[in-house]
Amino acid sequence: MKHILYTTLLLSLFVSCKKEVKAPETIKKTGLITQNAMVVSARVEASKIGNDILKKGGNAFDAMAATELALAVAYPYAGNLGGGGFMVYRKANGETGAIDYREKAPMAATKNMYLDEDGNVIPEKSTLGAMAVGVPGTVAGVFEVHKKLGSLPIEDILNPVIALAKKGVLVTEKQEKRIAHYQPLFKKANKDSILFDKAWKANDTIKHPNLAETLERILEHGKDGFYKGETAKTLANFVQENGGIITEEDLASYEAQWRTPISFSYDDLKIISMSPPSSGGVCLAQIMKMIEPFHIDEFGHNSEKTIQVITEAERRAYADRSFYLGDPDFVEIPIETLINEAYLGGRMDNFSFEKATSSKDVAHGNIAIIESDETTHYSIVDQFGNAISATTTLNGAYGSKLYCSELGFFLNNEMDDFSSKPGEPNMFGLIGAEANSIVPQKRMLSSMTPTIVEKNGELFMSVGTPGGATIITSVLQTILNVHEFNMTMQEAVNAPRFHHQWLPDEINMEPNSFDKTIIQNLEKLGYSINEKDSPVIGKVDGILVLDDKTLEGGADYRGDDTAVGF
Ligand code: GLY
Repeated sequence: MKHILYTTLLLSLFVSCKKEVKAPETIKKTGLITQNAMVVSARVEASKIGNDILKKGGNAFDAMAATELALAVAYPYAGNLGGGGFMVYRKANGETGAIDYREKAPMAATKNMYLDEDGNVIPEKSTLGAMAVGVPGTVAGVFEVHKKLGSLPIEDILNPVIALAKKGVLVTEKQEKRIAHYQPLFKKANKDSILFDKAWKANDTIKHPNLAETLERILEHGKDGFYKGETAKTLANFVQENGGIITEEDLASYEAQWRTPISFSYDDLKIISMSPPSSGGVCLAQIMKMIEPFHIDEFGHNSEKTIQVITEAERRAYADRSFYLGDPDFVEIPIETLINEAYLGGRMDNFSFEKATSSKDVAHGNIAIIESDETTHYSIVDQFGNAISATTTLNGAYGSKLYCSELGFFLNNEMDDFSSKPGEPNMFGLIGAEANSIVPQKRMLSSMTPTIVEKNGELFMSVGTPGGATIITSVLQTILNVHEFNMTMQEAVNAPRFHHQWLPDEINMEPNSFDKTIIQNLEKLGYSINEKDSPVIGKVDGILVLDDKTLEGGADYRGDDTAVGF
């Protein structure tokens, strides 16, 4: 909770905490400022295409469609036609909503499809290759958003994306390393050689002629250009030839779903975030409502007490997370109870600054979360005052690594986000819950947390990030950095992040970014600190509406993320 009388103290704390920010010196402390509109995404090409759509008079929803599809071309690491995602929006008139274009289990999926005859999880079956693939949702999501909320003809949106696929995309240094890193798995997952087997170097241009043809069919036939006809036939045959179970019927029956977002207050903010089948909004609400009574602005950014309060709230929220949550079309979810202030107030009753709570003493939940963190996020605010926040994914880096050369895109491995074996540890030591068990046509639980924040009833921020289970806590810290610690959008994105998810019972910290004395003190209180396993926690992109109504972009230096606006 922000204590408004402590502005002076807060500013001095803020100045001192700036020392902790480990972003390279070249990274600006204030992001791009524009007067009217902005797109922030993982790739400059996608941000530019989205921004051009806005400049042409399109709205945030047109730009969402263009940016999402441009990421499929420019950022195949996570951008996709073969995956899925979620978008939260706030229209200029204050109306809010959300769309779920999450992948679904194929009709032939079964609860135990990733288990051997002894009931053991079969290594890699849910992560690598055709059996890992869920029915993709992205194209349906894009067309549904455009149909309901867009304003420009679909040609205006798709033509620049098709042109980008034909012209090609420059390889960045980060991309060169990523492609090289994953090439052994590309070889393992694909029978034939693929475009990404080549030793691509920074500044090479990768052209995507087959993806351009797929996009042209989508331009000609709309959603059906992906889910029916030639593309669907090629895709279903390709998946089946590689041992998977997706059929043309699976593709033809896929529909994106409009959902009611999770909305809650925090001080004078209203947070609007993604509802199930993402756990993001519920979990974010739980954590923020548990933190709200504490004056963390007085404790200071990344101070011992602030880390304690946030960690303990995260511990308790993640203990609830996967036990209760799943696809709302298949399971009853007690959302109102889970985000109820009385319930959450009680959850922190046994918290003390004197000693870490042990995760084994925190009910409910028997879910350790290990998710891959190679998703991507983009935020858009248009010149009319509409805002969107969208997170999209193939799950793992380059998804299942299975690349359909004929269609020009990677396929997701989102089936791994189901609990392969409810009630018992899977191959990652993950103990899944019945609520997230595999059922034909069910959506798998997600952590994606596309979020929009209002302040005093007006648009304040659009924010989100990749990062698997750390998505929720990265979005949380970015909002708190701005609201509690008066950071700019870019500083809030740059600031070092930490993460606790109940199990394993440890605080992951970005390495060499936190005060050593604070780490030692936390260890004395019983916290286990892990600075090794998470060199990067999230790649947050956000847009902040400043007091003078200009926009500030926060584009994460941890990736190639870029803000473009006017
Ligand atoms: N696949 C990552 C997520 O949905 O959270």
